[in-house]
Amino acid sequence: MIQELSMDNFKGFSSPMLIRRGGGGGRIRFGRLSLIIGTNASGKSNIRDGLRFIHGVSRGYNLAEIIGEKYGEGGEPQWKGIRGGVRETVTRDGNPVAKAFTFAVKTKLTAEDASGTARYSITVDIGDKTKPPTIVDESLRISTEEADSFRTKEQAGPGQVAVYIRRPTAKKTLGPALTLRSDQPALTQLPHDERCFDAVRDQCKAFLRTIASMRFLDLDPNSLRRPSIPGQTVLGDKGENLSSVLQAICRVAASKEALIEWTRELTPLDVVDLKFPEVSLEGKIQLQLVEKGGREISAESASDGTLRFLAFAAAVLGTEPARFYFFEEIENGIHPNRAHLLISLLRAATRDGTIQVVGTTHSPALLSFLDKEALRDASLVYRAGSVSKIRSFADIPALWELPPRTRSGELHGSGWFENVAAFLESEGAE
Ligand SMILES: Nc1ncnc2c1ncn2[C@@H]1O[C@H](COP(=O)(O)OP(=O)(O)O)[C@@H](O)[C@H]1O
Ligand SMILES: [Mg+2]
Repeated sequence: MIQELSMDNFKGFSSPMLIRRGGGGGRIRFGRLSLIIGTNASGKSNIRDGLRFIHGVSRGYNLAEIIGEKYGEGGEPQWKGIRGGVRETVTRDGNPVAKAFTFAVKTKLTAEDASGTARYSITVDIGDKTKPPTIVDESLRISTEEADSFRTKEQAGPGQVAVYIRRPTAKKTLGPALTLRSDQPALTQLPHDERCFDAVRDQCKAFLRTIASMRFLDLDPNSLRRPSIPGQTVLGDKGENLSSVLQAICRVAASKEALIEWTRELTPLDVVDLKFPEVSLEGKIQLQLVEKGGREISAESASDGTLRFLAFAAAVLGTEPARFYFFEEIENGIHPNRAHLLISLLRAATRDGTIQVVGTTHSPALLSFLDKEALRDASLVYRAGSVSKIRSFADIPALWELPPRTRSGELHGSGWFENVAAFLESEGAE
């Protein structure tokens, strides 16, 4: 589970003034279900970009590939880079105001590894037109250990960096330094390096497992409608393969029943069955919703909201769910009167802690449907001048001083939430 992400000099999470003062940046905490609420251009998707960078690290890519893009040996695209590419990763205010950005991430180790948490931090120099992006600083610390598993020491010649690795016998001092490539995180070089101690390799792998299984969905109605081939069971970023993913879920009777139940609740349709007729000569199938009375609605003519909802359900109820999902603009296309059911679905899917969901939204109204835990785990993102700021709802005392009853539905209606946001903005702007 990802518990926290800190960003420094990344996109809007800093400013020339803050950099001159040697600080700034943003930090966001995550729980099992975490909503990020903010207006347009407040920085919600920039947080997603930060998490995607971490995901790119987990996949063993080099820094240029993580930020740019990555093609497989067959020339097929494997990874889409970070929006805006290398020049826009660092904070800009007209021109870039920094040469390097930093991420730090704190995760809870998976049950199969030791209990405890891991803290990983990486600072990347973005390079220039003659030099690739390189590591400036990187370290990993496992909470149950008394010293860092590894930590960068110094640049060691062109394209190289020296990295201390922890000697298993030493309690606190750092061990020998290895020379590694500076264009790829040490985190994903050390597990394959024979000079590295086993214990350090295992600690790198234990942390990598906590960030390995991440999915980022930014659903697009046209992709959701496109037919797919049975057996394509991974939902694409834009919702591709929805039909075959749902078909796989429906092979288990109880899952199919649950899916139909949720569909009935969340959409105005009285759905009694889901079918997957073949719709093309290439053998592609497409979802068909069957209503009571026999009316059939193909994915082609189903509403955007219905398809988006089914895609969320397919993601979290799917046969091979990821551990971490980032859903963009969750309330899009979903009627305000039904939005609470979407929250219920995500709450149910994240209850036992095996799936973690982060969702962005423009709609403060969704806050009214959160239980206490999810409200504490929600964050507000707002702009103070050209800087993006993050405030956890757990850290807005006024929210918790309200009597429990008025904490929900009325917040939005009374404009209270907007007032808090405006207050924070004026506070941040001075
Ligand atoms: N390199 C950068 N430096 C400073 N600000 C940036 C940079 N890149 C993007 N931004 C800011 O981030 C905003 C977009 O934020 P985004 O996260 O996409 O918004 P949303 O909350 O709508 O998802 C842009 O309008 C811009 O102001
Ligand atoms: Mg966005």
